[in-house]
Amino acid sequence: MPVPTLRGQRVVVIGGSSGIGFAVAEAVLAEGAQVVIGSSKPANVEAAIAKLGKGATGYAVNVRDEASVESFFAAAGGFDHLVYTAGDWDRAQTGPIAELDFAAAASGLEVRFWGALRAIKHALPHLSSKGSITLTDGVRTHKPAKGMPLSSAYGAAIEHLAKGLAIELAPVRVNAVCPGLILTEVWNSVPPERLARMTERIPLPQAGDPADVAQAYAYLMKGGYTTGQVLIVDGGMMLI
Ligand SMILES: NC(=O)c1ccc[n+]([C@@H]2O[C@H](COP(=O)([O-])OP(=O)(O)OC[C@H]3O[C@@H](n4cnc5c(N)ncnc54)[C@H](OP(=O)(O)O)[C@@H]3O)[C@@H](O)[C@H]2O)c1
Repeated sequence: MPVPTLRGQRVVVIGGSSGIGFAVAEAVLAEGAQVVIGSSKPANVEAAIAKLGKGATGYAVNVRDEASVESFFAAAGGFDHLVYTAGDWDRAQTGPIAELDFAAAASGLEVRFWGALRAIKHALPHLSSKGSITLTDGVRTHKPAKGMPLSSAYGAAIEHLAKGLAIELAPVRVNAVCPGLILTEVWNSVPPERLARMTERIPLPQAGDPADVAQAYAYLMKGGYTTGQVLIVDGGMMLI
């Protein structure tokens, strides 16, 4: 059997203009794939394509807007793998449940959960039946924190969406990556000493490199007998 490779395949990364998605785009290009990235700000998409270089294209897409998602996939054309890493950070914090603002809470799911479903719906007509979909959640799913029960709930929704869709969409494979603390641009404003304190007790006592977590996505794209799984990449955080 030949060793699985992404060479010659087309990979769409929604959220590929920065952070984990950008690292996934770099990883698949390094394997000889072509990548199509999407994110909401045209300038971010253009800058990322320029940085990624040969083999990378992309378009602006706002995953809050179904028509925008549909146009994005029409422009992207046929492809083999969908990776979804889009996430927004300007959501209102949900705070104490006694004060829950339901509109803010629902809006917190727009990009990470409903956006993923919008992407999957409109990707399907263009996605190879031998291909895959890889979603993204985070460690709060398994390590709840005070004041963040909705983060645990949304992550569980993503993980179980992956399992349900693995049945629904087979033979297309559907999986999820659950990252721990990964050193992307969103942590730029956090002082290094605080990041060190946040990670000092985990078995691999540092923040993860986006390039390392990108390998989890690469595996799930290539692992032709893997579906309905969640791959945790957290430096062992789950163990403590
Ligand atoms: N970094 C971590 O420590 C960590 C840990 C656990 C889980 N995660 C999860 O991993 C995912 C990626 O995190 P990251 O650190 O890579 O974040 P990031 O660098 O902020 O990347 C998020 C991407 O989503 C895009 N995006 C935001 N809103 C969008 C919209 N409405 N439509 C389309 N694209 C949109 C952003 O580009 P535009 O601004 O151009 O739209 C950007 O490309 C998130 O779901 C996050 O919760 C991250």
